Amino acid sequence: MSGNIFDDFLSRKTLFVDKEVLRHDFRPKNLPHRQNEIEKLSFNLVEALNGHIPSNMTLYGVTGAGKTAVTSYVCDELEAKGREINRPVQSIMVNCRQIDTQYRVLSHLGNSLLESHEIDEIPFTGWPTDRVFGELVRRMDNRGGVFVIILDEIDHLVRKAGDDLLYNLTSINASLKSARACVIGISNDLKFTDFLDPRVRSRLGQSDVVFNPYDAMQLQNILRQRAQGALIEGALDDSVIALCAAIAAQEHGDARCALDLLRVSTEKAEQSGDECVTQAHVRMAQHQLEADQMHPVLSSLPSQQKLVLASILLNERNGLRNIQTGEVYDVYAQACRYVRQNPLTQRRVSGLISNLDMLGLITARTVSRGRYGRTKEINSCIPQNIDAEGIMVESEAQMKEVFERPYRHQSRL
Ligand SMILES: Nc1ncnc2c1ncn2[C@@H]1O[C@H](COP(=O)(O)OP(=O)(O)OP(=O)(O)O)[C@@H](O)[C@H]1O
Ligand SMILES: [Mg+2]
Repeated sequence: MSGNIFDDFLSRKTLFVDKEVLRHDFRPKNLPHRQNEIEKLSFNLVEALNGHIPSNMTLYGVTGAGKTAVTSYVCDELEAKGREINRPVQSIMVNCRQIDTQYRVLSHLGNSLLESHEIDEIPFTGWPTDRVFGELVRRMDNRGGVFVIILDEIDHLVRKAGDDLLYNLTSINASLKSARACVIGISNDLKFTDFLDPRVRSRLGQSDVVFNPYDAMQLQNILRQRAQGALIEGALDDSVIALCAAIAAQEHGDARCALDLLRVSTEKAEQSGDECVTQAHVRMAQHQLEADQMHPVLSSLPSQQKLVLASILLNERNGLRNIQTGEVYDVYAQACRYVRQNPLTQRRVSGLISNLDMLGLITARTVSRGRYGRTKEINSCIPQNIDAEGIMVESEAQMKEVFERPYRHQSRL
């Protein structure tokens, strides 16, 4: 045989014009259905161009509601206008899920203001926090102008490290001489300000913007616009956009999920050598995305949690539905013996069952049994196409033992 193994792939007709357009970090030129939010941000931030300090803001909304996209878009426009009219404005966005301590946020901010002739990076660790803060202030003053400091996914940092960073940043204008700054906090969690000191809360919450979830019609418009630059004409069957939008709207109006569905559906169509994307490809994509989400959750469960989930699955393998806590515990205790672990008490196991419920791996409904008290009715809810046993065994070898040994099940009278 001659030729290169990639020849065939390269000569296949592709349905994408530019796949990047469907990626999460692509910045579209306009953001349909976010005009109000864009206006609220701009209304406040225009102060920077008038030589004043904009109010601090908090932006809330479910995941995929366009908070990061809208903020980046508005800040790009703001910086461009600032350059045009010679009013220096600089925005710096920090993702507090990745950069999640006060020290790291401050050093990141400081290092992003390094002039090209300066080589003194603030070290990754080791300085007292006041020194990092002082250095940040010095560099901001050196540059001058107005800074918009955006703390994206701030709820993560506050939950982990408290609100010292917010306290310091929202009072930074008292330390600055020539520069000025405002802070925009972005959060998934409406209640995150409950964790804040009242002083920080009132300083940060000068102006709030809530991003509502997108509905199915809005998601359709967003997808249609993104598909235009990303896919060749005629790549999509009529109902594909509507189906992707409907699935994402059911989730919770997440534009990221809708974009993923469209991109993976198109990849599925390409892989099968089809000329256009159909509803069947969307269903395949939906299954794959569900599996991709579930995999890290299942494989990172702590050992005891895996044993409890395995006990639920083993009861189901035995034909049971609406499994009771006692039935789970019975199999769990046997499984513990097989892997030489001490079983936890039934009370602790009941707590682990609630955790699995919270993670969306099972549903546990509390039911009353009259004078026999209350029990839980437990059912797994892992999609059928996902090999939960396989994933648990792959991440922890001793689980193999758990799934392969025989069990004595309680009999139901
Ligand atoms: N109105 C819109 N028009 C076009 N694309 C959008 C729109 N809203 C969101 N998107 C796209 O959806 C994806 C998710 O948006 P974004 O990252 O802004 O969500 P988010 O609210 O910040 O979510 P999270 O809370 O998870 O960070 C991005 O790729 C973004 O470009
Ligand atoms: Mg975001």
